[in-house]
Parts: sequence; C-alpha cells; structure tokens
Amino acid sequence: MLESVDEIQQEIESETIDSEASAESFRIKYLGRKSGKISDLFKRIQHVEPGDRADFGRRVNELKERAEARLDAFDALREHPGAGEEAKLDLTLPGRRPGPRGSIHPITQTLEKIRSVLERFGFFVAEGPEIETDWYNFTALNFPPDHPARDMQDTFFLEPGRVVLRTHTSPVQIRLMEAQPPPFRVIVPGRVYRNEAISYKSFCLFHQVEGLYVDEHVTFADLKHVLHLFAQAMFGDDVRMRFRPSFFPFTEPSAEVDIWWADPSGGDRGRWLEILGCGMVDPNVFEAVGVDPERYTGYAFGMGIERIAMLQYGIDDIRTFYENDIRFLDQF
Ligand code: PHE
Repeated sequence: MLESVDEIQQEIESETIDSEASAESFRIKYLGRKSGKISDLFKRIQHVEPGDRADFGRRVNELKERAEARLDAFDALREHPGAGEEAKLDLTLPGRRPGPRGSIHPITQTLEKIRSVLERFGFFVAEGPEIETDWYNFTALNFPPDHPARDMQDTFFLEPGRVVLRTHTSPVQIRLMEAQPPPFRVIVPGRVYRNEAISYKSFCLFHQVEGLYVDEHVTFADLKHVLHLFAQAMFGDDVRMRFRPSFFPFTEPSAEVDIWWADPSGGDRGRWLEILGCGMVDPNVFEAVGVDPERYTGYAFGMGIERIAMLQYGIDDIRTFYENDIRFLDQF
C-alpha cells in the first residue's frame, strides 16, 4: 500500500494546473470527498496493519498537504497576474537597504546628556513660554529700565516695550519662584531668541539650560562644586575649568565659567572657552517674587547648548545646526 502512496505523489507533482478547469479536475481527482485518490487513502487507513498505521497516516496527510499546496500556488498566481515572472526569484541577490533613517539632532543629544547629568544631581526639569513679558524677561530679573539688553539691538519685540521673545531662560526662574515657595532645584531647557548679526558664532535663536537652586544656606561653594562635577561628567575627570568674575543683573556675585580646550595637535597649547554664566541669586530678584532674602539664598546658572555641542563634536559654525542639511545631520 505504501507504493500507491508513492505513485500518487508522483502523479500529483506531474499534473499541470494552468486553468480554473484543470484546477477543479485536479481537486476532484485527488481531494474529492467521494472518490478522490487521497480521500480513498484516508479510508484505507483503518485496514492497515496496526504497526504501520501511524506511518501510513502521516504519509497520507503529507500527500494531502502537497495537493492543497499545488492548488494554493495556482490561486496565488491568479490573484497576482505576472507573479509567474516574480516567482523566478533569485534568492542569491543582495538585499535592498531600508531607506534613509532619521537621527537624533546633535542639539537634542547634547541636551539629553546635560539633562541626565543634572538629574543625577537632583535637579528636576521645568519649562516656560518662549513669548514673555518685559516683567519676566527683564524687570523682575533686576534689569534697570535703561539696560542695553533691552535695546532693539538684542531683543525681538512682539509689542514694543511689553512683549518679547525671551532672550534667555532666566525668566522661568521668576515664574517658578512666583508659583511656589522654596526650596527649588530645577533645570530649564529651552529655546531663546536674540536679534544679533548672524555669523559662524551667533544665530537669531539658540538653546539654553537654566539651573536654579534655592534653599537655606546655599553658598557659592555649592555652586562651584556642582559645576565642577558637571564639567567632569561632560568633558572628563581631568577637565580644567576656571571661574571668571562677571556681571549679570540677576546674580551677585556673578561669574562666567571657562573650560580649557586642549589643542588636538597635543602639547600644552589650547584655549579657554566660555560655557556658562552663573552666580548667587540677587536679593532684588528674591524681593520681586516675594521670597525672603534673609532666610533663603540660591544660585543660578545658564549655559548655551550649542556652545557645548560645538565643543563636543568639533563643529565650527553654529548655523549648521539649523540648516537641516542631511549630510551634516547624518554624522551624529
Ligand atoms: N541668562 C544669562 C544669559 O543668558 C545666563 C545666566 C543664567 C547667568 C543664570 C547667571 C545666572 O547669558
């Protein structure tokens, strides 16, 4: 009996199925319920020697699957005309590459790095609006009425003298301190705008990360400590940094922080590059938001994300960040 299984198998393989009619007669001949050859084999299973029965049944099942597969193949051909050509697949051809993939913008990558370092130090992330009033952007931050930063040269005014595109992320300090009492330990990433001459080192918009820590007994030593840890995490444990006395209306004393950028050619050549401004929150700012300057002290800092990204990736023109040239972006 096993022989007839083999015979039918050969028959099935040699049948031609090229039309609906030939498919139908194939089906009746092998799979027809009443007298199909495979159906007959199924009926015979019960008469097979018990010892051979399992093996026989398995072979008949395989035969049935093979017959059905031939019918399926014909159906597939009918549903996709021309598939006959495609069926001659050359599986040895190299695969097709997926289309171009996006990548994470270097500014976002740098921000993520800054954020993950500062979050480890216990800072929470806050945000604020890019359209600000004069009060938040300047007055509450202790800018005198005639301060040059308010000048048309630097600020984009939406309503002259009243509504501006924020020129820094410091106004979010005011919003936070107005909304709730200390302590605070927050960072504020965001986009800022300045009406400056565009060049390789300045653009009309850029990104900052503001930091603010307010509590009892916060000192300048705390500020130096956290910024040193930050610089080590960003630029390596052997980073050289210096605090240079500076001035901001909203901090007193104020400093700018430079890090030493060694010349890639080696030796002890290199230069100091400014990465951020910082200082102790000016008591006038505390008074503007109703925080008691006798009880609380605090520090603030603000860094430019582009500046740090340019250092880390060796980018020498800030404008490349905003051109969306895929040849530039692909590198990160
Ligand atoms: N807001 C300042 C700037 O834009 C940076 C700064 C933030 C300085 C906080 C001191 C404290 O340059």
